[in-house]
Amino acid sequence: MTSTVPVLQTSFSDLQLMRRGKVRDVYRVDDNHLLIVATDRISAFDCILPTPIARKGEVLTALSRFWFEKLSHIVPNHLVATEISEMPEVARQQEETLSGRSMLVSSTTVFPIECVVRGYITGSGWKDYLRTGEVCGHRLPAELSESDQLPEPIFTPATKADEGHDENISERRMSEILGEELTATLRNISQQLYTEASEYARTRGIIIADTKFEFGRDKEGRIILIDEVLTPDSSRFWPADQYAPGKSQPSFDKQFVRDYLETLDWNKQPPAPPLPDEIAKATTERYLEAYRLLTGKNL
Ligand SMILES: Nc1ncnc2c1ncn2[C@@H]1O[C@H](COP(=O)(O)OP(=O)(O)OP(=O)(O)O)[C@@H](O)[C@H]1O
Ligand SMILES: [Mg+2]
Repeated sequence: MTSTVPVLQTSFSDLQLMRRGKVRDVYRVDDNHLLIVATDRISAFDCILPTPIARKGEVLTALSRFWFEKLSHIVPNHLVATEISEMPEVARQQEETLSGRSMLVSSTTVFPIECVVRGYITGSGWKDYLRTGEVCGHRLPAELSESDQLPEPIFTPATKADEGHDENISERRMSEILGEELTATLRNISQQLYTEASEYARTRGIIIADTKFEFGRDKEGRIILIDEVLTPDSSRFWPADQYAPGKSQPSFDKQFVRDYLETLDWNKQPPAPPLPDEIAKATTERYLEAYRLLTGKNL
């Protein structure tokens, strides 16, 4: 069913490549559909590593599908099919490469904002808080420690940057870009998605510290949840049993990779060094474990 050979990059002569991200290759299938292919690329410190993480693309795809189904009562999503047999002929021809790692989705006009929700203070939010006491216009309690849970989840939008880092913006700034009504709607939906998902994940031993959603508008004018959802690539997953605020937390999925890279004399600029076999293997196991914990099933 699933491709066993790790895939670092795809290219198909009869599918039009729309974009190659750090992890996903996106193709235009026809006027109304895209094919999102999750490769086994992994990035660390913002660099793509030359070593694939076997089965990572499969885990990202299966996890997105799991959440799309679970959360579809909150907002419609773009997912059309993940089974190759339900995809158009052009995709079925590439079954060996695409199987298990591909989503056929409805194409939308993407809103140019990343809808981030944070339940814990870490990453760029922690940096902003240290500097200003605020994150994206939210004034936070004084004397928070790194990785503390926030009194309630906050909506912290960011602009989508093609290259380099996204920029955190206030909700007021987002309203200037998208209008007040749409901004309030996207904030509401994002908070509902985060709240339901993080409460569920907590019962499964995973803290979802923060996550990013993207939305678009379909041809009928409806607001649609798009992209990947609540994967380790779009979220910070922390093992709940190791949670200890006052420092940065181990990452559920990438910690072995980061720890290994920190032992090297590498300046964190591309090209990134390869990973030893045992680090890559252990990381595959972490991704499979995240899937198993969250869904209760083996992939
Ligand atoms: N239904 C959709 N309609 C239109 N665009 C979509 C849809 N779903 C996802 N996209 C777009 O597909 C792109 C996915 O590529 P992206 O560059 O984010 O890949 P990535 O591997 O996540 O890389 P990065 O880590 O750099 O974000 C995003 O720009 C996203 O907005
Ligand atoms: Mg992305």
